[in-house]
Amino acid sequence: MSNYHIKHLEEYYQVYRKSVREPENFWEEVAEEHFMWQKKWDNVLSWDFSKPEVKWFEGAQLNITENCIDRHLSTRGDKTAIIFEPNDPSETAEHITYKQLHERVNQFANVLKDQGVKRGDRVCIYLPMIPELAISLLACARIGAIHSVVFAGFSSTALATRINDCDCKMVITSDGSYRGAKAIDLKGIVDEALESCPGVTNVLVAKRIHSDINMKAGRDQWLQPLLDAASTSCKAEVMDAEDPLFILYTSGSTGQPKGMVHSTAGYMVYTAYTFKNVFQYRENDVYWCTADIGWITGHSYIVYGPLANGSTTVMFEGVPSYPDFGRFWDIVQKHKVNQFYTAPTAIRALAKQGMELVEQYDLTSLKVLGSVGEPINEEAWHWYNDNIGKKKSPIVDTWWQTETGGIMITPIPFVTPTKPTYATLPFIGIQPALMDENGKELKGNQVEGRLCIKFPWPSMARTIWGNHQRYKDTYFSAFENKYFTGDGALRDEVGYYRITGRVDDVIIVSGHNLGTAPIEDAINEHPAVAESAIVGFPHDVKGNALYGYVILKDTGEYRDHNNLRKEINQIITEHIGPIAKLDKIQFTKGLPKTRSGKIMRRILRKIAQRDTSNLGDTSTLLNPEVVQDIMDNVK
Ligand code: WTA
Repeated sequence: MSNYHIKHLEEYYQVYRKSVREPENFWEEVAEEHFMWQKKWDNVLSWDFSKPEVKWFEGAQLNITENCIDRHLSTRGDKTAIIFEPNDPSETAEHITYKQLHERVNQFANVLKDQGVKRGDRVCIYLPMIPELAISLLACARIGAIHSVVFAGFSSTALATRINDCDCKMVITSDGSYRGAKAIDLKGIVDEALESCPGVTNVLVAKRIHSDINMKAGRDQWLQPLLDAASTSCKAEVMDAEDPLFILYTSGSTGQPKGMVHSTAGYMVYTAYTFKNVFQYRENDVYWCTADIGWITGHSYIVYGPLANGSTTVMFEGVPSYPDFGRFWDIVQKHKVNQFYTAPTAIRALAKQGMELVEQYDLTSLKVLGSVGEPINEEAWHWYNDNIGKKKSPIVDTWWQTETGGIMITPIPFVTPTKPTYATLPFIGIQPALMDENGKELKGNQVEGRLCIKFPWPSMARTIWGNHQRYKDTYFSAFENKYFTGDGALRDEVGYYRITGRVDDVIIVSGHNLGTAPIEDAINEHPAVAESAIVGFPHDVKGNALYGYVILKDTGEYRDHNNLRKEINQIITEHIGPIAKLDKIQFTKGLPKTRSGKIMRRILRKIAQRDTSNLGDTSTLLNPEVVQDIMDNVK
């Protein structure tokens, strides 16, 4: 038996030890007993972190949608696969059964084929959280096309960059989206983006807000009539284990976003296995993850992981604050949600509201609470535990990344005793290591260092689309023979991990990863700006907010600083999206630099955090005098 479902701590340790001692046997058993293969593998694992090259279940053939849909039809055909909860609570929720999902995915897959999409082609999906989003991912997977979902809050420039980076020929979008009281013109954003994407010849448009939009002849088509005309059966393409399933972009410390490439078999096995255990999902449970499918959390734990287990997964279109801050609890009550998975930034925003918004709802269905995306602070953890879980539902603080594909360090509920702010223990098969700055592994407990993983796991990203060298440089070069996460962590006296935050130039704002370089590049395009530097500072809801230091060109042309601040944020919104707007902008005459010309961000960070007691030795700077000046004018 592969211990697919772990139920107590002894069993966790026993299975964990096995997964480390005999990883190949362990994963082979999981894969064999719980999935549907067209052909079994020849080799479970081959790997070499120096190249880096990792292959799981090589030689196997499968289609992930047969695992997520077809194989449930005989036993769960009438079970709800997806509950779609619309933005507006007065609109009726939609329950899509496995049978209906099967038909809708097949129709969509046939439309893609009719439109000329072939195995291996990249399809960009820019949709709000409506059923077509989940269905379009699965439709791509059905025919072996590689989906590249771009979060529908990204700007046209960011969308265009991502479309061009992986040469998408098709974009799937909608006439618009609802977010709380607002309606957003998504199609307009796509039109703007496509002005710089000559490769896109085909745009499919789902109807959601019934707005009057521009349809470009020969390029744009309404989706629904095509679906209505399509057959409800579509043979699943037989894919190789290592064929790419999708590309998902994440921010890096520098320039261009990184298109992380995930492959099929390993991703499926790991997301399904983690889902089952981390949420202790039982057959009739209703599971809800509040993330957007535009992020990895939505890919792995709204779509693939839950469906591979035949679960009922909720998709919520709206926002936590509409029509009021009780919306999440209203949905929990309405659909009797058993597992609820959200982000610390949402918890903090909800904790600021009055308790009457929680108390008027029946939350007794809840069994497990999850957190993801950034470290959860102690106060938020306790609020969540006391008021939502009523001290009965364990909190799983799950640490992982776009790159890791699935949850890596996490408690298993009712198995691992939790500890506030600790992601606790590595999941089965995960071998973390903490490294010091000289590249030495820190053994034993009560140590703090850089978090690495020293052995491959099935759902790790295989490369960066079109740039394998960058994949190697970013993740496999800092520490020999190890995957470097970019995070710092400590291991306490019992071996529990606590993630301390990013150690690179990525800042997590409201759970979104933002690289400082792309934001600085955007700001520097403003004609009045000579140079800029972005750092993070603590924010009570967003976790971190952005602080920009900006040097103006001395033209005298722009004297109205408030206006300039607006323009700078406008440029950022256009280039990246509103999520990257700066909370504070300080105009300054200079930036502290080392003698080699590198900006000393450590100093800027401390000033932005108003922690100037220990700035360290600034005398070696090229321009030590600017430090005092910056401190005097801090925002
Ligand atoms: C951070 C999200 C602390 C971390 C799944 C990581 C966390 C980055 C946690 C990845 C957590 C995620 N505790 N930090 N439980 N979960 N992070 O790619 O810095 O959007 O490297 O993936 O978020 O963010 P990404």
